[in-house]
Amino acid sequence: MQKEGAGRTALVTGASAGIGRAFAEVLARQGYQLVLVARRADRLESAAAELRQRYGIEAHAIVADLADPKAPSQLVAELNRCGLVVDVLVNNAGYGVPAATSRRRGRATMPACA
Ligand SMILES: NC(=O)c1ccc[n+]([C@@H]2O[C@H](COP(=O)([O-])OP(=O)(O)OC[C@H]3O[C@@H](n4cnc5c(N)ncnc54)[C@H](OP(=O)(O)O)[C@@H]3O)[C@@H](O)[C@H]2O)c1
Repeated sequence: MQKEGAGRTALVTGASAGIGRAFAEVLARQGYQLVLVARRADRLESAAAELRQRYGIEAHAIVADLADPKAPSQLVAELNRCGLVVDVLVNNAGYGVPAATSRRRGRATMPACA
């Protein structure tokens, strides 16, 4: 039976550790081609290599600091350069701002890029 992710590409930010790494694992198991994004190249490359080897999928590592306002356009340029079209986005990298929630009651706090 064909896997759900076959022929599809998923991009995971913060994919070298924690929750993002776990998302990448699940998507790899489902057969997605992966684009993994984080700042530290060594950890990112090692996660990509492990997922390729374990699941036989393509995994591209793109180093980016998503706190940099230029990062999104650079990321899109790199995706275009590699001919990658993203079907699924797991925009995981970031941090919560609990103080903002308590100061401004009733307003949800969205995760922001770290
Ligand atoms: N763990 C929890 O209990 C929990 C609870 C609620 C919400 N969250 C949220 O879930 C997300 C992930 O949490 P986690 O616990 O899995 O974190 P984590 O284990 O620290 O992993 C963070 C990942 O994001 C990458 N990253 C951090 N800053 C980045 C940046 N500026 N640009 C690109 N990549 C960046 C890290 O790699 P590099 O450092 O190499 O970039 C790493 O791959 C965060 O948004 C966090 O606020 C977590």
